[in-house]
Amino acid sequence: MHISVVYDSNFKGQTEVLAKCIGLGVNSVDGISSHLIHVDNVANNWNTLHTSDGIIFGCPTYVGSISGKFKIFIEELAGEVWLKRMWKNKTAGGFTVSAGRSGDKLNCLNQMVIFASQMAMIWVPQPILGGHYSSQGSEDDLNRIGGYLGTMAQANIDESADVSPPESDRETARLHGRHIAQITRQLVAGRIAVPITEESPYDPEKQERPLSLKELFT
Ligand SMILES: Cc1cc2nc3c(=O)[nH]c(=O)nc-3n(C[C@H](O)[C@H](O)[C@H](O)COP(=O)(O)O)c2cc1C
Repeated sequence: MHISVVYDSNFKGQTEVLAKCIGLGVNSVDGISSHLIHVDNVANNWNTLHTSDGIIFGCPTYVGSISGKFKIFIEELAGEVWLKRMWKNKTAGGFTVSAGRSGDKLNCLNQMVIFASQMAMIWVPQPILGGHYSSQGSEDDLNRIGGYLGTMAQANIDESADVSPPESDRETARLHGRHIAQITRQLVAGRIAVPITEESPYDPEKQERPLSLKELFT
């Protein structure tokens, strides 16, 4: 079993730090491993993506949105992957980071959830109880941002990826990756135990770059 972590990170590498943490969380579950794919390298990794049991999306929040490169990547999937339901029933999850505590990160995760839903994927939320809700809390709390749709992290704009986002966000990402891997493992085992007969699995021998909508309909 494997899970791909496909992410963009352009400014300081702060999203990449989280991608690595999510990957470590995935790898901590027996029988499942992670593949980290920067959106710049998707062209060499189509088969890895198509054969993944789950795909986790990571993107910095830029101007309250997913980044331009990430948008281009998901638009490539609006053709054959969407039409042939190629990613149906893969698990999905997402993470983002911004400089502001809010930073309008929720919009970024919303875009990922809508994309995953259009592809008929199964979204796995961030399960850790929100921290820093009271006078007893601190920035060291797990899920200090208090977001549940996916992992939300915050990184100071004047600090390098070596120190920002902080350890609490990194550990939140790691635990989210572990959770997605555990759910994925259950679903894969369940699919074998209780198959849905009308579903035909993807043939890894056959597929390279998926065709775009333009190629399919012009
Ligand atoms: C073009 C651009 C737009 C940004 N827009 C926002 C924003 O809307 N809200 C926010 O809080 N931070 C914003 N930031 C800060 C980034 O979200 C933050 O620095 C993030 O950690 C960068 O991740 P990266 O190093 O992986 O690219 C923006 C940064 C850039 C470069």
